[in-house]
Amino acid sequence: MRSIPFNVPFLSGSEIKYIHEVFDKNEFAGNGDFTKKVQNILEEKLSAKKVLLTHSCTGALELAAILAGFGPGDDVIVPSYTFVTSASAILRTGANVVFCEIDPRTMLVDISDLEAKISSKTKGIVVVDYAGNSVNFDVINEICEKYNLICIEDAAQGLGSSWKNKPLGTHTRFGTISFHQTKNIHSGLGGCIIINDVKDIERAEIIWERGTNRNAFFKGLVDKYSWQEMGSSFYPSELQAAFLYAQLEKIDQNLEDRLELWRYYEKVLQPLEKKGYFKILRGSKLCQGNAHMMALHFSEMEFANNIRSHLNENGIQAVIHYVPLHSSPMGKKLGYDSDDLPITVKSSSSLIRLPLHLSMNKEDIDYIYTTINSYFAKL
Ligand SMILES: Cc1ncc(COP(=O)(O)O)c(C=O)c1O
Repeated sequence: MRSIPFNVPFLSGSEIKYIHEVFDKNEFAGNGDFTKKVQNILEEKLSAKKVLLTHSCTGALELAAILAGFGPGDDVIVPSYTFVTSASAILRTGANVVFCEIDPRTMLVDISDLEAKISSKTKGIVVVDYAGNSVNFDVINEICEKYNLICIEDAAQGLGSSWKNKPLGTHTRFGTISFHQTKNIHSGLGGCIIINDVKDIERAEIIWERGTNRNAFFKGLVDKYSWQEMGSSFYPSELQAAFLYAQLEKIDQNLEDRLELWRYYEKVLQPLEKKGYFKILRGSKLCQGNAHMMALHFSEMEFANNIRSHLNENGIQAVIHYVPLHSSPMGKKLGYDSDDLPITVKSSSSLIRLPLHLSMNKEDIDYIYTTINSYFAKL
């Protein structure tokens, strides 16, 4: 029997070479040459005003929430269908999280529910680019302007995708990206914040540098650095930055190869989709995706569970995704009940994700198709 893991972390082949260079320089701590090189590459790729590497996307979200000035008494609206830290980064500031629904066709935030939940206490929103797909950011930005809200674009899964030809992560005031090993490219753990308004750059650098103006000192703007405000240790070591530099060298090939696998999956699964067994999760026409995820959406949870078990029994590691945050034990502590967001509960339990990584090939996809097909053939 074949064995197909859900994810195998990508390796470009040059990671060790660049890590050796860090040893040669004997400078390990971070905010060094590799960090600067990687930030420059990302700024160019994303046409971004400023990119700061962080130890994780979680760290980038926390930094964004501090920069946004969220705090006690503020409400921030977050889709319940997301990773834990899209919400915990907000809670850390003392602000309150208000959960909203997703659109079951896309698993992205339901903009009408989001707008309906805006109140006089709402200070911001978090929009998640689930699966490297995106909502209509023209509408999101209009809402932000109308109600004077700050938006954090959680593009943890979005590097390499764009909406209306503008890279994900650059559509609102702050964007965040993950370089966790489950992402298309990675540094084991890692992330970055994208600062899309120049007026936030100076403060972002201070908070990022443990609350000091050390960056201004390095630029020769002050003769000594000192504590400016509450910050934290947000950036990665040079070892991680060197690893990421090696990965970024291969980002275009990585994207091309992933897209080829994704399109092949789509081609072989389409006949089953046409029979109405499931829907393949796709982005909108205005979104150029990064083939981060191959997900199938079933009409019922029971189907999703049965197919997942059948795939698992046949050596294929198909997996579920987020347990809605409002229905989690922490969500309950925040005063939520599972029934509060029924669309999110139903659509999250009827989705499965299939393996997609560059250590698999088209024969693996044929095997996955045959296994899914054999389940339906028996019905
Ligand atoms: C939408 C979303 N936000 C945030 C994160 C957190 O990223 P990290 O693991 O880099 O902290 C993830 C992780 O997968 C995610 O999917």
